[in-house]
Amino acid sequence: MFDGVAKGYDRTNSVMTLGFDRRWREWSRRVLDARAGEKVLDLAAGTAVSTVEYAASGAWCVAADFSIGMLLGGRHRDVPKVAADALRLPFADNAFDAVTVSFGLRNFNDTEAALREMARVVKPGGRLVVCEVSTPTFRPFRFVYMRYLLKILPFIGRFVSSNPEAYQYLAESMRTWPEQRALAEIVAKAGWEDVAWMNLTFGMVALHRATKPAESGEPAEATKPAEAAKPAQTLEGE
Ligand SMILES: C[S@@+](CC[C@H](N)C(=O)[O-])C[C@H]1O[C@@H](n2cnc3c(N)ncnc32)[C@H](O)[C@@H]1O
Repeated sequence: MFDGVAKGYDRTNSVMTLGFDRRWREWSRRVLDARAGEKVLDLAAGTAVSTVEYAASGAWCVAADFSIGMLLGGRHRDVPKVAADALRLPFADNAFDAVTVSFGLRNFNDTEAALREMARVVKPGGRLVVCEVSTPTFRPFRFVYMRYLLKILPFIGRFVSSNPEAYQYLAESMRTWPEQRALAEIVAKAGWEDVAWMNLTFGMVALHRATKPAESGEPAEATKPAEAAKPAQTLEGE
């Protein structure tokens, strides 16, 4: 399916999100806070549009995705690209300082298993940042969004995408995806600690971040025991 939407993917994305995708990527970059000398895995990177954004920090960033078509769609982007399945990553344990996934987690067959696999390849104390569609927090808007906006997505897809059926799937997966707190609990269950999230654009998108526990089993330095016990907390949002 993703090979089928690869042609013109970046343009379709910008049209469908009314250009907000740029702001969401900008926020992901800020929260990820990659630094020169770090190794960052951008998982389900698609055309590597986010990967170049993270690489601008000077960190070494690799784009991994299981759709060769999507990776080829980003062939003009000068970052290393690897064909890889999120559930069986071809990387050693503790290889990265941080792992990030934008608009990809929702597509994995087993969310928790993928989060565990991401934890495997990140160093103890390393970071996770997930940017994903979520549930609008303002009730009247949530009603309109769930009831009407998600229904018109497949129609817009007919005009702007090379694979309109994929937009039927997109709308369905957005409707059934867990809301902010539920996702934070899945992240914590998969072995990450210090889980927090931040709402973007009224909660239509949420950024979740977490840390891999330090090797000793002790909480990472900045984590207060009382906070570690909580499954999730809200960061200051937009
Ligand atoms: C909606 S696109 C997001 C692409 C990019 N991260 C972005 O922000 O534009 C979702 C991506 O997830 C990838 N994907 C889905 N399941 C995957 C898996 N099991 N392993 C690796 N990539 C996967 C798809 O190939 C697709 O490129």
